[in-house]
Amino acid sequence: MDKKVTRSTSIDLDKYRLRTFVKRLVDMGEMEVVNEAVPLTKMSEMIEGRKDKALLFKKAGPQGHEVAAKVMGSRKRLAAAIGVSEDKAFDELLRRTAQPGEVVEIPSNEAPVHEVVLTGDDIDLTRLPFHPQHEFDGSCYISAGIDYTIDPATGRSNVGSRRLSLRNKTETGTNITAPSDLKRIYTACVARGEKLPVTFTIASHPLDMFAATTRKPGEELQLISSLRGEPAAVVRSITNNIMVPADAEVILEGYFCQEGYVEPEGPYGEYMGYYGAIHMDPIFKCTAITMRKDAMFQTLLHGSAFDLDQSDANVMSCLRTEAEAMKILKAAIPEPLDVYLIETGGGSNTLRVKIKQRRPGDARFAISSLFGGIMRLKHVFVFDEDIDIRDQKQVEWAMGTRFQADTDMIILQGMMGMTMDPSLQGRRTGAKAGFDCTRPLGKDGQIPFTRCAAKVYSGAPAKFKSVEEALQAGPKYYSQVVEGLGSQDGREIAMGLDELRQKGKLGRDRDGRYHFVSDGKPGTTKIVGELYHDPNHGA
Ligand SMILES: Cc1cc2nc3c(=O)[nH]c(=O)nc-3n(C[C@H](O)[C@H](O)[C@H](O)COP(=O)(O)O)c2cc1C
Repeated sequence: MDKKVTRSTSIDLDKYRLRTFVKRLVDMGEMEVVNEAVPLTKMSEMIEGRKDKALLFKKAGPQGHEVAAKVMGSRKRLAAAIGVSEDKAFDELLRRTAQPGEVVEIPSNEAPVHEVVLTGDDIDLTRLPFHPQHEFDGSCYISAGIDYTIDPATGRSNVGSRRLSLRNKTETGTNITAPSDLKRIYTACVARGEKLPVTFTIASHPLDMFAATTRKPGEELQLISSLRGEPAAVVRSITNNIMVPADAEVILEGYFCQEGYVEPEGPYGEYMGYYGAIHMDPIFKCTAITMRKDAMFQTLLHGSAFDLDQSDANVMSCLRTEAEAMKILKAAIPEPLDVYLIETGGGSNTLRVKIKQRRPGDARFAISSLFGGIMRLKHVFVFDEDIDIRDQKQVEWAMGTRFQADTDMIILQGMMGMTMDPSLQGRRTGAKAGFDCTRPLGKDGQIPFTRCAAKVYSGAPAKFKSVEEALQAGPKYYSQVVEGLGSQDGREIAMGLDELRQKGKLGRDRDGRYHFVSDGKPGTTKIVGELYHDPNHGA
């Protein structure tokens, strides 16, 4: 049934619809539009294969659905969804998550997602673009579902994201195995012999998915507007009492059956790049499909092991973990500078941190605080302020030159791990490792701890007339003498230094600076102070 829609709310009901964001991605050159008809079996191969872009299928499957894929599959796209530059993304997320959110209920006849309503015999899930994804998956999937429920015990709303696997016209499998609020709410329902009403949106703005995968005590529906940064219009579902964003593209209303974990679901290609095993799960029964007249569908890249940097769930999880990590670090140490989660590490588990060391132990305290606060972290690397933690070359250099496995590694055993981590081999707890790749504190300026790079000469006019005058003004490195004399050559400076040496007026300190001395031995360089003790030299 198509409904006529009149609107009285002042909330813009198109601003946060998926189609508007997709248009933005196309304008940004971030999305490739696939105009030709594509069979459902071809979609995942194409999504995985197109490494640098999101995809918009204009004619997916025999029904010719429009399906947007990977809209959150890069940091650039996610930053665009938040509306800030990439470097501001996690700070902005932190700010928004902390804000209270306001939702405004609008009537069904004003809700774009109620423009088309299918109930009873008109419900046919097999006409929706559930599509085959990973090689050993148990069925075809809609992987971009956001579930809205109300905990009957508390009356509070809960929002999460759960996949849906097609079973028949009115049923899907779903996965409520990992610990979650939904699992707690649902298992309590089953214990009482009750079904749990649920409404899924299956094509939404990335910020809604972000809200869905953010866990918060209390009301979670409001997180949608917190993340959007403005009030969100919600509408009451037609066949249950659940409120959902009125500007979604497509909705599946229904319930999780009261029988509990009765049917096998999976395997499914999971966020760590391995399959989640088959397990017993509840059945979702659909009681209504509602949608916009021009509804767009959505799918994600989920578990492609070597492409996790373009997996929607991973990119989102990286950003969220970075935001949480920065919050923890700000409370723990005086000067955290940056955090970067490696998208390809398999499940947001490998974090790089950049700090300015202020106190002995800052790096270790950062590591232990992070492991104390974020369960999914498994490996944390800490670097100094001179390392760009997004640059693999710099990170490897610091790891190779500032880290000693016997003194700079922290291993915590018996720590709660992620159940999906295959290296745990089924255990619930495992090890966490922290790598302190910082320089020893208090050695700044010492030449053996100083990073080498070419000297960039300023080309400024000479400040001194002679090498002697330059050194009388204070000790200097060779390059400072070259620069101080405005030389564009350097060889005459070596000769000038030698002249002083021959007169017994040249000294050098342990860091290699040249000094003007009055008590040297002609023909030799006086050592000023003591050289660094280096047992390897002269051995
Ligand atoms: C794309 C995507 C799909 C997800 N699918 C599932 C799923 O099928 N089952 C599950 O338990 N968690 C899944 N998650 C993780 C949960 O959505 C996440 O843990 C959420 O915070 C749980 O919310 P809740 O604790 O409020 O119920 C998924 C996350 C994403 C981003």
